[in-house]
Amino acid sequence: MSSSPQGKFEASQFWASSARSRNFKSSARLHLQHHLFQRTLGNRILQPTAEQAAVQCRAPLRVADLGCGNGVWLLDLEQSLTDLGVEVSLLEGFDVNPVNFPPKWSCPPNVAFTALDVLKPLPQELLGTYDIVHMRAFVSLITKNDPRPAIYQALSLLKPGGWLQWEETRVDRWTATAAQSGEAEDAQSKASCDAIIGILDNGGRAQGNTFDFLATLGVHLERAGLVQVASLELEKRRADMKAWTEDYLLSWEEIANLIPPKAQAPDSPLTREMYEDLLDKAIAETEQGVAIHQQSVLVVMGRKPA
Ligand SMILES: C[S@@+](CC[C@H](N)C(=O)[O-])C[C@H]1O[C@@H](n2cnc3c(N)ncnc32)[C@H](O)[C@@H]1O
Repeated sequence: MSSSPQGKFEASQFWASSARSRNFKSSARLHLQHHLFQRTLGNRILQPTAEQAAVQCRAPLRVADLGCGNGVWLLDLEQSLTDLGVEVSLLEGFDVNPVNFPPKWSCPPNVAFTALDVLKPLPQELLGTYDIVHMRAFVSLITKNDPRPAIYQALSLLKPGGWLQWEETRVDRWTATAAQSGEAEDAQSKASCDAIIGILDNGGRAQGNTFDFLATLGVHLERAGLVQVASLELEKRRADMKAWTEDYLLSWEEIANLIPPKAQAPDSPLTREMYEDLLDKAIAETEQGVAIHQQSVLVVMGRKPA
């Protein structure tokens, strides 16, 4: 299929809410994604520079997680800081959509979740109060390939000397991998997986989102005035390919809800029915060994000047 759902793929809306209220599925996908990030990063929650700063922090630590989803990273951070003996003031998760926040009774008292649009003007009392600001899988909040508004928000929340840690998968590198040559007798078809990747790429491009900025995210941090900027890029583990594939298939399934059915948009080059048919074929391809992934995980660190 060569047609694209131009203007139909509203990524930010998609990640912010599921049209069919199957929020638990989005949350389960984020739990899986968290474990895959962690496996790729050697189970490090904080990179060594930020972890060292946390350990050496003279006052009780304060951390903000922007676009925190179900809070899984923050809850693992709390455990990791407890293990390190770090005194915590407050670990706060902010998300525009609170539906996937964990139940309050299940959270330690120093972990809190608040509904907040982190791209709008931030509450004055939060500015300059965090030792660490964390962002992950944040690309759907970036428009027109311009991460500057997001970096500005993060920077404004940091104390002087505080660290920003930002992790992404390379959304600009969607890939469907069939069996390597020599591993299978016959060339495997991955045409339907490639077609869906094309739909997503074209949908993003139609809105000016190609995610090219990921290749130079460290430069963007430096230009915004952060210092000690460092980037780390780690290939996804081969052994995790099936799990990444399942994670992406879950998101591809959710995307169907954003595409109008034929009855609503009879002239559309891509109807929901066409997409779902393609998805069935893509799933069948993965059952024959095709993996869907985005090649690597990127971590960029930077420090607000003291
Ligand atoms: C792909 S999820 C990532 C969740 C989490 N960071 C993780 O890695 O598990 C993106 C999250 O950003 C949230 N989001 C979207 N727009 C937002 C905004 N303007 N302000 C705050 N959160 C937002 C969505 O509700 C969603 O939970």
